[in-house]
Amino acid sequence: MQTLNANPNLALHPAPTAARVHASLPQLHAPRNPAREASPPRAPDHVRASRRMVDSHGRTIRDLRISITDRCNFRCVYCMEPDVLFSPRESLLTLWEIIRVARIAENLGVRKIRLTGGEPTLHPELTEIIAGIRGSTGVEIALITNASRLSRASLRTWKHAGLARVTISIDSLRADRFARLTRSASSPEEVLAGVEACLAEGLTPLKLNAVLIRGFNDDEAADLATLARRFAIEMRFIEYMPLDSAHAWDASKWVSAAESRRAIEARFPLVACGDDESSSTARTFAFADGAPGRIGFIAPVSSPFCGACSRLRLTADGKVRPCLFSTTEWDLLPLLRGSACDEDIADFLIDATWTKQPGHGIATPEFRQPPRPMSAIGG
Ligand code: 5AD
Ligand code: SF4
Repeated sequence: MQTLNANPNLALHPAPTAARVHASLPQLHAPRNPAREASPPRAPDHVRASRRMVDSHGRTIRDLRISITDRCNFRCVYCMEPDVLFSPRESLLTLWEIIRVARIAENLGVRKIRLTGGEPTLHPELTEIIAGIRGSTGVEIALITNASRLSRASLRTWKHAGLARVTISIDSLRADRFARLTRSASSPEEVLAGVEACLAEGLTPLKLNAVLIRGFNDDEAADLATLARRFAIEMRFIEYMPLDSAHAWDASKWVSAAESRRAIEARFPLVACGDDESSSTARTFAFADGAPGRIGFIAPVSSPFCGACSRLRLTADGKVRPCLFSTTEWDLLPLLRGSACDEDIADFLIDATWTKQPGHGIATPEFRQPPRPMSAIGG
């Protein structure tokens, strides 16, 4: 049986029960402006010479997440406030800038690119972005979406263009709650129609994500788990992270992976799959009764997986973020829009990766929430 408490940083301490993690979670501080540094300090010569993105803690970047837009048609309570400010359009990466970074990143060892947002399906050139990355790299291309704008025809077009995989967010199966959580005009039916469309178009393996928030939807873990069984897919529960634009996250709203798992197991006993890749963010479980589908738990708060992180993020406005929780980001836009050659951009990515922090330290008193919400960072 796998444990959800595999955090190497806590190895010397007793396993962090939800209550203990809870008690150690900090009060969050008021947002500060992000520290936007023009260029990262130069990485050591041997690191530059390796032409790989490795950090000073020995981790190698294989997975690049590109936020192609910070715009979204939802305003999920854990992400974006209704009055969130978007970046000016002229500062957003263009189609050709996205494709260029993808090509350079592949040369530096990236094997997978996830297109995120905001809501990436709002981007008018999504098909061209997918086709452009496919045409100039061999990386696996994945998309994360709220599924409010999926049709079989668009999915077919994106698959034909080179899209391999889709992940869909769904936080509630109840229309009223869905509306309260997402503050959108969409509905659970619309999202489930998107799920069916992905399956019908063969965009598999399909994954679903849910964030449980106490007082909103924390009693829906087992109901959401039924989606895994119904569609024979992976339903993942992500612990609520302090990445909301309202900076309203607090420990009392947080639901641990262990609590979600207990709620699911009260209806559907689970068995650990035991085949998770070391760099995977999720611990996955099968249903003990042999039903199809899987349940995944992503526990960045109670059980951080930073030690095996292989991810680097590029924001919609061209900032490189070595970590979801980076408070410093490196501005690639001047290089992309200046006279820099591909090798200069590769050096920049290598240098930025070298600055990757060892972990996010959410459960430490020193933790500071990054000023930008998930929608600007890219899930
Ligand atoms: N905590 C946890 N997950 C979040 N997401 C967005 N904001 C948060 C947050 N504060 C998730 C979305 C989506 C993925 C990109 O990130 O639900 O599935
Ligand atoms: Fe939009 Fe995703 Fe943020 Fe919800 S979580 S507001 S769908 S970017």
